[in-house]
Amino acid sequence: MALLRQRNAQSSNAAEIEKKIKRGNALRQGSAWRWSRGSAALLLVALSLCGLAVWLYVTSLDSDVTETLVSRAELVSPQPRVYPVECSDDYQNHKRYPGCTPQKCGRGVTDSIVKREEAEVLRRLAERGLALAGSEGGASILDLHSGALSMGKQFVNIYRYFGDKIGDVFTKEDLQLYRDVRGRIQTVIAETFGLDPTLMYLTKPTFFSRINSTVAKTQHDEYWHPHIDKVTYGSFDYTSLLYLSDYGSDFTGGRFVFMDQNSNRTVEPRAGRVSFFSSGSENLHRVEKVTWGSRYAITVSFTCDPAHAISDPTLP
Ligand SMILES: *[C@@H]1O[C@H](CO)[C@@H](O)[C@H](O)[C@H]1NC(C)=O
Ligand SMILES: *[C@@H]1O[C@H](CO)[C@@H](O)[C@H](O)[C@H]1NC(C)=O
Repeated sequence: MALLRQRNAQSSNAAEIEKKIKRGNALRQGSAWRWSRGSAALLLVALSLCGLAVWLYVTSLDSDVTETLVSRAELVSPQPRVYPVECSDDYQNHKRYPGCTPQKCGRGVTDSIVKREEAEVLRRLAERGLALAGSEGGASILDLHSGALSMGKQFVNIYRYFGDKIGDVFTKEDLQLYRDVRGRIQTVIAETFGLDPTLMYLTKPTFFSRINSTVAKTQHDEYWHPHIDKVTYGSFDYTSLLYLSDYGSDFTGGRFVFMDQNSNRTVEPRAGRVSFFSSGSENLHRVEKVTWGSRYAITVSFTCDPAHAISDPTLP
């Protein structure tokens, strides 16, 4: 009997132990499940924090560009898009020319005054002209007015240096288009800022430029520094750029940046796009470094001072 009781006790004991083990397992399983859920949540938080850190890092790298005024894909037509800016007092240090000296300042962009096909013709002209020489560094210019063409580390005069070969580079029709285009730019600037276009004069430097990603060899190649046109060239009152190639497909980098106190504002080049602005310190700007491809543009500058006027180029 005693033995039986003992056995019973043993078996009930064993049952008890088995129950305890089961309960323990269940508890362990439950806590393991809770633990894995907790760690998944933690992992998620950690991942989001990492993501946030990466995003903050990437945007901080790019924080010098905060606003796109006009993207490449947009078509600004028929009216120019105008961004008024208060005039700086730079113009007060110069003689004033009523009807021309900036009273209104700002920026404008238009895609409707130069056709893409016209930009194409002008780009080919620039390609042919610059193929004669070109800078060793990444930035070459061709100035049809003075004849200056980048060659190695310096400049040559195309009219003197290449003489008769000039006829192969540009024709009378090319020059006519160039004159037409500069006339249209003059008109849109005059309309935008309320000026008399006959009191504005083309001034120097007015030139074609080609920029690629090759490292600069001389100061002339360092186009990316922030600058103010009126400070660099006292005669400038209005600056314009006619783009001859497309940002993103012909080249990368190379956006135009207005550097304002509170923001950097970009204009993305597009073939046929004209961007223009008053030349004083209200329009401090720079061009981003070109990282790939070739960027073609024409800089067309205007002065109010007839003493600084230059004439349109003609075939020699
Ligand atoms: C604009 O970009 C320049 C660098 O190109 C940077 O030093 C400056 O802080 C930027 N300005 C703003 C307001 O982000
Ligand atoms: C950039 O242009 C120069 C001529 O101005 C040329 O020598 C150089 O090979 C070009 N670089 C690239 C990356 O195309």
